[in-house]
Amino acid sequence: MKKYSGNKVSTAIFISGRGTNLKSLISFSHKKISPIKIDLVFSNKRKASGLKFAKEKKIKILLLNEKFFYNSERKLVKILNEKNIELICLAGFMKILSSSFIKRFKGRIINIHPSLLPKYKGLNTHKRVLEKKENYTGCSVHFVNSKLDSGKIILQKKVKILKKDNEKKLAKRVLSLEHKLYPQAIMKIFS
Ligand code: GRF
Repeated sequence: MKKYSGNKVSTAIFISGRGTNLKSLISFSHKKISPIKIDLVFSNKRKASGLKFAKEKKIKILLLNEKFFYNSERKLVKILNEKNIELICLAGFMKILSSSFIKRFKGRIINIHPSLLPKYKGLNTHKRVLEKKENYTGCSVHFVNSKLDSGKIILQKKVKILKKDNEKKLAKRVLSLEHKLYPQAIMKIFS
């Protein structure tokens, strides 16, 4: 991405659920140092509770019918182009994007994942990390390519796993790190 020159880059956030990363990105985007402004929140789930954060800040919301996602994706591309979206941040977006979509926005889609990639791609990361008795876990922000959780890593944060940790406690600690990591990773790609 081009170095941030003072003109905030039009950004879309894709979510499917709770949206706490969306919330943290919205407050980051309001800061002067932020290179992004959030012009669109897209959800493939009508009931995603995270949509409330977009509503509160009057950010445009786009919902598309999941059953016809192929057609929806074409519609989505049209809207992203109309709104001149330059960066797409996936934040708990649970749908795999087609390779043509990824190609079209090559180098402009990023994702956050709750593990130290390339370890523990996919779902249920905290459970698997605990089962393997790892000493550390963390979170990663990476560019999206056509393979799941495999694109170039932008930034990571590490967390020590404690004896008293269970899935819930660990998820909570990693999530609060995620809220810091995503803005930092965005700063990095525009620096
Ligand atoms: C986060 O743990 C993120 O790393 C993963 O999905 C979760 C989304 O949480 N991709 P939220 O919807 O941002 O609260």
